Amino acid sequence: MKPKWQVWANEAKAEFPKANSALLPLLHRIQTEEGYLSENTINDVAELLQLPVPYVESVVSFYSLYFQKPVGKRVIHVCVGLSCALNGSDQLMHHLEGKLGIQEGQTTQDGEVTLLEAECLAACDLAPVAQVNLRFVAPVESADALLAKEVNS
Ligand code: FES
Repeated sequence: MKPKWQVWANEAKAEFPKANSALLPLLHRIQTEEGYLSENTINDVAELLQLPVPYVESVVSFYSLYFQKPVGKRVIHVCVGLSCALNGSDQLMHHLEGKLGIQEGQTTQDGEVTLLEAECLAACDLAPVAQVNLRFVAPVESADALLAKEVNS
């Protein structure tokens, strides 16, 4: 555990006295620096906030913007919720896999792009929807258009 994580945990607890409320900002701060949240990090965070490890794991796995392994500079989430599935998200994912040369869940060899599924991204009326880091793209016209605008520009 990095010594400054204790400081960060104390700062989070000062702002959010309930441990489960301090959890999200602490995880976010650590991930911003580390790039992802490893199993060891999850154990450390649980210890720092005196929360059960399974609870911290469940929070990390619930939110799609917490990563449990290293990711690329750009993370493309393709929504696979019902509205997006009905509007071509399967084909979009397939085309992105082909263009990037990776499967869903993988990162390109150059470390530029990670391709992931996401459950409903809350813009169903604009399906199919993707998210590139924190930017929504909706509707996605095509894999080529998405990559040209959000990755290769
Ligand atoms: S199902 Fe894709 S945004 Fe809701």
